Amino acid sequence: MSTIGSPLSGKNIIVGVTGGIAAYKTPLLVRLLVKAGANVRCAMSQHAQQFVTKLTLETVSGNVVYTDLFDRDNPHSTEHISLKEWGDAMVVAPATANIIGKIANGIGDDAISTLLLSFRGPLFICPAMNTHMLEGYALQRNMEYLRRNGVHFVESECGELACGTTGNGRMAEPETIFNCLTEYFSLNTTKGSLEGKKILITAGPTYEKIDSVRFIGNFSTGKMGFALAEELASRGAHVFLVTGPTHLSAQNPDIERIDIMSAREMYDAATGLFPQCDAAILSAAVADFRPEHEADHKIKKQNDSDGMTINLVQNPDILATLGTMKQQRQILVGFALETDNEVDNAKKKLTKKNLDFIVLNSLHDEGAGFGHDTNKVTIIDRNGYITAGTLKSKQDVAKDIADKLSQLF
Ligand code: CTP
Repeated sequence: MSTIGSPLSGKNIIVGVTGGIAAYKTPLLVRLLVKAGANVRCAMSQHAQQFVTKLTLETVSGNVVYTDLFDRDNPHSTEHISLKEWGDAMVVAPATANIIGKIANGIGDDAISTLLLSFRGPLFICPAMNTHMLEGYALQRNMEYLRRNGVHFVESECGELACGTTGNGRMAEPETIFNCLTEYFSLNTTKGSLEGKKILITAGPTYEKIDSVRFIGNFSTGKMGFALAEELASRGAHVFLVTGPTHLSAQNPDIERIDIMSAREMYDAATGLFPQCDAAILSAAVADFRPEHEADHKIKKQNDSDGMTINLVQNPDILATLGTMKQQRQILVGFALETDNEVDNAKKKLTKKNLDFIVLNSLHDEGAGFGHDTNKVTIIDRNGYITAGTLKSKQDVAKDIADKLSQLF
């Protein structure tokens, strides 16, 4: 493997190893990282040393391995403190339920957990455990909390487990973990150009008419979609921006704006444009339902005391339709707004609508979502690679989405 041009070349990576049988695979990961030109230092928990030796990791990494907070015989024993500045990224592989609980709750009682307490760089966690432990509510809560705080998870895989059962819980293969790190560093060092690409974006709300003066709508302002359009156009793409009613205006001359009102008009515009596009990002808050009948005059009150019932019918799902039209060369991106089991539901939407990645909007954070200038999103791709962002301006979120798109091109 050549190190030339590898995004990992020259990067300082800390590999933390905790006590699981999958620790026997960690030297392979270290070897891949070293071969790609990275400098690797390892830290191990006491339990990890039951599964893989310190000597093995010292041999493959070419560096001292940290195991103890207060080792009098080891002149490097306090280096876990300075290691936090040294590392460009840290990977915990395998990560037990115990270490994930410690990270989520700020507990530092050995070399590795103390280092994790103070490490502020990108953190990649590779869970490995029995399926029942993985599904436990406390662990799920801890993982959800860490994801929301920007921790990356390299998801465990299904297969035969050390306990003799079959299920989810096997640590991702060293190559998969290595690819995630490579992808992370390539995204953060090279911003690909989108010169010559045609990209469709949907933005804003849709209005579903009840009569000539009333409609059913939502609070979307279109800010996220417009920020995306500007970002992609600034990278050289020609953008078709299909937008619902909004007061926003597009600045870049490479943005071709198509104004629509209803979900069905957005559907017609989007399905008409998609075949000529290289990618589509559907950020619009499309009304799922519309009134069955639209009155062409203003509906009058019948009787002072009478109420009114409007029958609603479902609108077409634009994203799902583009998912069925999608060709091999095309990239399709959706948004998801979830209140419960956010990541699981977003993953289901990703598969069901045949997407390449999905942008999960946070509803739990102040300053994120409809109408705000800031947003907090988690990007989930079809390989299960998850990047949880922090609260940032919609322009910066647009940059992250554009980076991910460039990477896929
Ligand atoms: N979307 C769409 N057409 C629709 C509904 C949604 O194109 N009729 C797109 C949105 O633009 C977004 C994605 O689908 O990119 C997900 O929207 P969301 O409202 O989260 O989910 P739904 O698919 O509508 O499912 P549900 O409301 O049941 O969660």
